[in-house]
Amino acid sequence: MHQERTAIYPGTFDPLTNGHLSLIRRGRELFDQLVVAVAAETPKHPLFTLEERVQLAREAIGDSDSGIVVEPFDGLLVDYVAKRGAHILLRGLRAVSDFEYEFQLALMNRRLRREIQTVFLMTDYQWLYISSTIVKAAASLGGNVHGLVPECVERSLHNKYALGEVRRATPCLAPSAGGFVPSGKSNA
Ligand code: COA
Repeated sequence: MHQERTAIYPGTFDPLTNGHLSLIRRGRELFDQLVVAVAAETPKHPLFTLEERVQLAREAIGDSDSGIVVEPFDGLLVDYVAKRGAHILLRGLRAVSDFEYEFQLALMNRRLRREIQTVFLMTDYQWLYISSTIVKAAASLGGNVHGLVPECVERSLHNKYALGEVRRATPCLAPSAGGFVPSGKSNA
């Protein structure tokens, strides 16, 4: 009898990019169910709230494939994976620069729960050089990010930055990096 294979694809997704989408589609071809798990706890200072990140991912993925679900999680990733009854974590690798961090993450997760395996997919070459951070950096200065992120994300980025929102979530623009702070706004 065929046993259903569920993989968990965790991330901050601040915001989801076309690179993530590509990995989700490719991951779905390998597993019966793919859960896109959006982290509440993250060392990053997200631009989008958890609810916004989940909502944007859902909108971008659409609901035509019942084998892909998006949900938030908090606490330790491996505990969430175990609670979900899954054993596989899916992660993308872009360049060598990702390797060390991903290696640490995978080994720590394995130490915490040995039964959970991390599976890596190479990111498609078109998305090798994009990241959520670089997309936010461009969008925050009015740069055109069309084609790099789903349309709903493009609109939301535009709206956030049109409201004068948050350079804290865009580290290369942070005041400590000599970034621009709109007049009348504090650096906090
Ligand atoms: N194409 C293009 N870019 C990609 C990509 C792809 N296929 N896959 C990842 N990226 C980019 C993302 O845009 C992102 O860029 P950024 O760093 O500029 O934001 C970066 O690579 C990775 O981000 P993301 O995919 O969102 O994952 P993450 O590394 O932020 O996720 C968690 C980290 C959520 C898995 C980790 O913090 C976690 O497990 N948290 C839960 C708490 C926990 O268990 N902690 C202990 C872990 S040992």
